[in-house]
Amino acid sequence: MSLTKQEKQSLIDLANIARQRAYAPYSNYAVGSTLRTKTGRIYTGVNVENAAYPQTMCAERIAIFKAVSEGEREFEVITVVTDNGGSPCGGCRQVMAEFGLDTIVLLADGTGKLIKETTVRALLPEAFTPVDLGK
Ligand code: THU
Repeated sequence: MSLTKQEKQSLIDLANIARQRAYAPYSNYAVGSTLRTKTGRIYTGVNVENAAYPQTMCAERIAIFKAVSEGEREFEVITVVTDNGGSPCGGCRQVMAEFGLDTIVLLADGTGKLIKETTVRALLPEAFTPVDLGK
């Protein structure tokens, strides 16, 4: 699977637009994500915070859960866009790993600049996956 520079940028741009819908009144750290499945569908996600802080949900997980709830389980690429190009949290890495270690991960900053291109495998070495449960 190869992604063109334009495809990467348009996924990042879409995540950055979605990011405007982040609900982050506590951290003021808005995160946007786009997920492209192997069937070519694109799902967006934003972080949704809560006054009971631990109930917050990250942008990447929302994009993944939207896709899975629509019957999509095979992913090509996920983007994470933040003001400063921050990296996905451990919980999101684990959820990404559930659906494949080869998913490409693009990290971008608030100007839409690609900061890092990596994979779930690189972000979560020696991941615990369905294989460990014989699945
Ligand atoms: N956040 C994400 O949406 N994704 C991550 O991978 C890291 C953290 C959100 C959660 C919270 O709303 C805010 O960023 C600060 O932690």
